Amino acid sequence: MKILEHTSLKPYNTFGIDVFAAHFCRARDKEALIYLIKNTLEYYKNILILGGGSNVLLCSDFEGLVIKNEIIGIDIIKEDDEHVWIRSMSGTNWHELVNYCVNRNYGGIENLALIPGTVGAAPMQNIGAYGTELKDVFLALEAIDMKTGEILIFDRDACAFEYRQSVFKKELKNKYFIYSVTLKLSKHPIPNTTYGDIQKILQENNIAAKAASIRDVADAVIKIRKSKLPDPKEIGNAGSFFKNPEVTKEVADKLIAQYPTIPHYILPNGTVKIPAAWLIEQCGWKGKRIGNTGNHEKQALVIVNYKDASGNEILEHAIHVQQSVYNKFNIQLEMEVNIISPSAFA
Ligand code: FAD
Ligand code: EPU
Repeated sequence: MKILEHTSLKPYNTFGIDVFAAHFCRARDKEALIYLIKNTLEYYKNILILGGGSNVLLCSDFEGLVIKNEIIGIDIIKEDDEHVWIRSMSGTNWHELVNYCVNRNYGGIENLALIPGTVGAAPMQNIGAYGTELKDVFLALEAIDMKTGEILIFDRDACAFEYRQSVFKKELKNKYFIYSVTLKLSKHPIPNTTYGDIQKILQENNIAAKAASIRDVADAVIKIRKSKLPDPKEIGNAGSFFKNPEVTKEVADKLIAQYPTIPHYILPNGTVKIPAAWLIEQCGWKGKRIGNTGNHEKQALVIVNYKDASGNEILEHAIHVQQSVYNKFNIQLEMEVNIISPSAFA
């Protein structure tokens, strides 16, 4: 595997932050990757695995080795009359996997269409959108121990999935290279059209919700996403910068009394989810630009890089937003984006 020195990471992160990696390589097969881990990794101070770079904020030059994951491939490993078991290599583009499945009428991930990034990063934060989360169809993953090169299997329980969370973002952070992901999909899918504007788009296309195919649902999701989320090719961003906060019923009741129009969703466990975008918009940030950064005009939760912002400039802006939401609503927003700075590897 060829290791390059002093490589710009600008093409490899959707915020478009121009920082440098002291060392950089592309992983294209398992054998070479395991060889690298077993024989040379000790030499590098820190290791950063990058997929599509669509959920990272790079705050400084990286004084270690960046491994860009380019291990691709999709296989059907098992099937019966009802289900199909799809194993995808982790460097495969997520949306390509969605298309592969939707085109064959394998249902379960159509609502996750157009999420940027790789298959290997999907379990990191249990990606979710339009009423579906990865965990709903996830069976297992193979991960390579970054110290020993040993391969381990993690089933759904071992991944400890939660809303935008997994064991790999918490106690096992930076410890494993996710090598492959296996999903169990349905051969007789029942599309989920209940979320957001999906039914509205279907109606506009004269498709009855009951008659919708998973392709119809994927296309509707793509249309909605394109209408409100900025395309990173045009303007740097990493999707939602913060998670949607969950508060107790008591806290929610007080907020609803004070702000009767506050959108809120009661979760099965009785807590209440409030859209961070609404809280941020109420603080006056929507469409507001400060220097090279700001909050998107169509989606207040998306922080953007208008031009040549540094990672720290974006981080400072995010902290400013977080602080103003706290001051107004007494709610502490939690960052969803992975902040990559020396302290993240301490
Ligand atoms: P990266 O940004 O490359 O990496 C993210 C983290 O995972 C890093 O810490 C990295 O070190 C680690 N990592 C990556 N690959 C591996 C691996 N193989 N093994 C171990 N660690 C790894 N997310 C949603 O959940 N729902 C959405 O609807 C959504 N919409 C988005 C819309 C836009 C416009 C953008 C820009 C982002 C959006 N995101 C969304 C966030 C992002 O697309 C997902 O988090 C995605 O899974 C990140 O994939 P990636 O390959 O780009 O990960
Ligand atoms: N809203 C505002 N102002 C805005 C935007 C939204 O007040 O500028 C309010 C509206 O009331 C709206 C509600 O927030 O109904 C929810 O907005 P939206 O449907 O756009 O979804 P979201 O909660 O902001 C979440 C995910 C997205 C995912 C969508 C669709 C999180 C942190 N974000 O956004 O995921 O695509 O739902 O399911 O959960 C991501 O993780 O990067 C991401 C984009």
